[in-house]
Amino acid sequence: METVLSGARPTGPVHLGNYFGAISNFVKMQEEYNCYYFIADYHSLTTHPEAKELNENVKLLLATYIACGVDPEKATLYIQSHVPEIPEMYLLFNMLAYKGELEKCPSFKDKVRSQKSSNKSINAGLLTYPVLMGVDILIHKANKVPVGKDQMAHLEMTRDFANRFNFMTDSTYFPEPEAFNFGNELLKVPSLDGSGKMSKSADNPNSTIFFSDEDSVILKKVKKAKTDGGPIMENQEKPEEIQNLFDLMALVSTDDTIAHFEETYNNCTVRYGDLKKQLGQDMVNFVAPIRERIKEVRADEDLLRRVVKIGDEKARESASKTLQGAKKLMGMNYFT
Ligand code: ADP
Ligand code: TRP
Repeated sequence: METVLSGARPTGPVHLGNYFGAISNFVKMQEEYNCYYFIADYHSLTTHPEAKELNENVKLLLATYIACGVDPEKATLYIQSHVPEIPEMYLLFNMLAYKGELEKCPSFKDKVRSQKSSNKSINAGLLTYPVLMGVDILIHKANKVPVGKDQMAHLEMTRDFANRFNFMTDSTYFPEPEAFNFGNELLKVPSLDGSGKMSKSADNPNSTIFFSDEDSVILKKVKKAKTDGGPIMENQEKPEEIQNLFDLMALVSTDDTIAHFEETYNNCTVRYGDLKKQLGQDMVNFVAPIRERIKEVRADEDLLRRVVKIGDEKARESASKTLQGAKKLMGMNYFT
């Protein structure tokens, strides 16, 4: 059976982008694959969270995975910092990674820009972020990694590290993992402000629908979404901000709703007010039950504790096997 691994950083409530880009695939994949899902708390240290905030966000993300349908009986759920084999293999992989390729990584360049503009320092962990992510994946020899489109460059680097290790040790020890989405293409859930992707760290919090948003907040955010002056020619191509609204509708609305608004757009009778009202309501219908379930699961600390205890152990067992094998191939099996 193929192995699947993915995770997210505990940096706050998840949003529709995280759900459709990653977590919904976690749920589907647990039926067919040997799945590991984790909370990337070390990764979140690259952007300086406060201790209290980090502590709560880890528990919230764990509750969110479960509330979204990740079943701890089917998938292994664990916390990255509970698996000491990860930082050990990270040290080894830091010797494989080149400074130049890390500096060229698009997410590093973006983070340097945003950390600088908010007067925050750029730590070495930010530079080696892709190394740690590669280790997360390779430590379970994962083949498939359910993530959104924004993680593609990181996956490419993971494959480079795997191939480099294999070449240096004259082995085929690590597989070449691939980014995965059930819809074939990796997903980019657009933001509500006309451009870019939905993101936790967006400058404009109104552009992202979080699973912590109350119904009235969701309706208000969608109402404020950017639109243009309306189509003036039949079957006219949609500008980005309008296409984005249709892309969001494709995630939460019925086929009939989508067909209706496609038709009114194409014959120039569309009323954006109605479209946004319907989209807002469909988002509420989608988000509200999950939001309430997250609150329930989050309140059950015993359940969360039990889930990670079992998950951490299973993850360590697999990680330890891979790490020992890697060290042996590197000649680090002295006196055994
Ligand atoms: P964010 O970018 O909001 O901080 P994370 O980096 O924690 O979110 O991402 C967790 C997962 O969610 C990753 O697999 C990432 O690819 C996916 N993801 C985040 N935003 C989107 C989006 N707008 N569309 C699709 N997938 C996304
Ligand atoms: N970089 C991912 C993100 O920002 C989080 C992550 C860390 C991850 N390690 C991973 C995702 C391993 C998939 C596999 O969302």
